[in-house]
This record gives sequence, structure tokens and C-alpha cells, in this order.
Amino acid sequence: MTHTSSAATALPAHEDMPQIEQDSYTKLLSRLSGLSVTHHFDAYGDVDWDNPDFTIDPTDARWELGDDDPLGGTAWYRSLPAETRARLGLERVASMMKIGLEFERVLKRGLLEFAGTLPNGAPEFRYAYHEVIEEAQHSLMFQEFVNRSGFDAAGLAPLDRLGARFIVGLGRRFPPLFFIFVLGGEEPIDYVQRKALREEDDLHPLLERIMRIHVTEEARHLSFARHYLRTRVGTLNWLKKLQLGVGAPIILSAMAQMMLKPSPQLVKNYQIPKDVISQAYTHNSAHRAESLASMRRVRALCKDMGLLTPTYQHVWRVLGLNEETGAKAPAY
Ligand SMILES: [Fe+2]
Ligand SMILES: [Fe+2]
Repeated sequence: MTHTSSAATALPAHEDMPQIEQDSYTKLLSRLSGLSVTHHFDAYGDVDWDNPDFTIDPTDARWELGDDDPLGGTAWYRSLPAETRARLGLERVASMMKIGLEFERVLKRGLLEFAGTLPNGAPEFRYAYHEVIEEAQHSLMFQEFVNRSGFDAAGLAPLDRLGARFIVGLGRRFPPLFFIFVLGGEEPIDYVQRKALREEDDLHPLLERIMRIHVTEEARHLSFARHYLRTRVGTLNWLKKLQLGVGAPIILSAMAQMMLKPSPQLVKNYQIPKDVISQAYTHNSAHRAESLASMRRVRALCKDMGLLTPTYQHVWRVLGLNEETGAKAPAY
């Protein structure tokens, strides 16, 4: 594919952006769009769902949570019968996939709103549509997994649905804050999936296949969101920058909790005691360190963009996102 040169010359420059940055940004978008053509996956064409090795058995010990998992390491979890431990592990995966596809639904709607604001010839339009298509394939994979797990995983709670509508509108009204939301959802999941692929030697092959596909395509999505933010933030007026500086930690804190904690449905179904949740998540320094590590890249990006000045740092600290101070973990 040879998109690069023709696309680069036909594209209008962003206002107030140095030409050198605009050129490399446009080239990057062209490269990402090209990769979406040559390295994309189909939820049904590229996952061999009916392969006997991919069959989901809820009592399969490979679904059990390991000792290094916040919940898996609790005495409460270890005391459950082996079959219950496996079922809970599987249902947590299914629950995370359901939350993931709900996140992707908001992401796709916001991306379409964003694309609707772009002038003809804007390089972001093509890339945004590639990303919408890829996220739709991810959601098909996730939903198929949920269906095959036999777990009736719940979608967003009513309050979260209201928040989702607000976020979708940001894609049109204030794209930089929308892309902070995108990173807030994609970074923690990418971190968790990369870690599992790297460190777990007994992954169920279906889960491994889904995660490998996801991680490959998410690398492009993360790259786009990060570069979009880098190129746009310098063009914002002081009021918009203030809104971004305050909005970023609020959104990131909410997203990290939503993506990494067990869903209320799971807590209810397995009657996980409050003190176990507290021990596993709220007052677990190892979990807190992992949560912060999953946000480290987006935090560094915010710092580079001048969104971690002492004033904004206060907001990060209050929300428990400040690694240096050792502030208390956000409550679940
Ligand atoms: Fe995705
Ligand atoms: Fe994505």
C-alpha cells in the first residue's frame, strides 16, 4: 500500500501547529491507516471459535485466579472449592470483556462524533474510521466470548450510562478530553493484557488468541490518541487547558477503577465479603502500585503536556493518582 505521499500532500495543516510537527503527525496517521489495512483482524475469520482446544469449560483449572492476583491471593478465594474458583475466574474474564465492549461502544460513538467535526481531507477522519471498524471487531470477539462463557454479564449501570452520554459528546465538543478518556480505558486494559501474555504460562488458548489480537490493534489506537493529544494541547486557550488539566485526573481515576476492579455483579453473585474487597483492592499496596503502573504512560504524557503543574498535582493527589506522594488508594 502506498498511502503515505499522496495523503500527506493533500492534507490541510492544523492551525497553530509548527510545520515540522504537522508533517510527522500526518505521516504517522498515514502509517497507522496503512497498518489498519495490512494488519487487521476479523472477529470470526481470525478466531477459530469451534476449535476443540478453544472450548470453554467453566470448571477448567486454567480459569482460576493466581496467587499474585489481588482477589486470587486472598484466603477467602483460596478457601473456595476448586470448581467455584475456576468459575469465578472465568466469570471475571467475561465480566471484564463485557465492560471492555461497553467502553468500546462509548469510544466508537465518540470517535464518530469527532470524525463528524473534521473538514474534508483531514487525516484523522480515515484513521478514526479504521479505529471504529477495529473496535467493532473487538466488541464482536468480546461478546462472542461472553456468550460462550454462559455468564449473563451485565452492561453499564444507569449512572454510568449517563456518564457515557457525556463522554460521547466530548468527541464533538472537546476532543482532547475525549482522547484522555480513550487512554484512561485503553491503557489499563493494554497493561493487564500485555502482562498476562508475558507472564502467564497456562493461559486458555482462546483467551490468549483474543488478547494477542487486541494488543496488536490497541498499539495503534494508543499511538493515535497520544499523538493527537501532543499535537493539539499546545493550541488550547488557558480555559480549555484548565478544563483538560482538571478533567484528566477525574476521568483517569474513574476509568482505572472501572477497568481493574471486579464488577458489582460479580461481587454480588459470589457474595464476596466487603472486608475481602477491602483487603484485595482498597487497602492493598500491591494492587495500588499495579493500578498506578497501568496509568504511568498516560500520566507521563500529561506531565509532558504541562498538565501536572503543582495546581493540577493537587487534584491527582486527592484522587490517589500521585505515585510520588504515596497517597491513599481511591476507595472502591
Ligand atoms: Fe479494543
Ligand atoms: Fe482501542
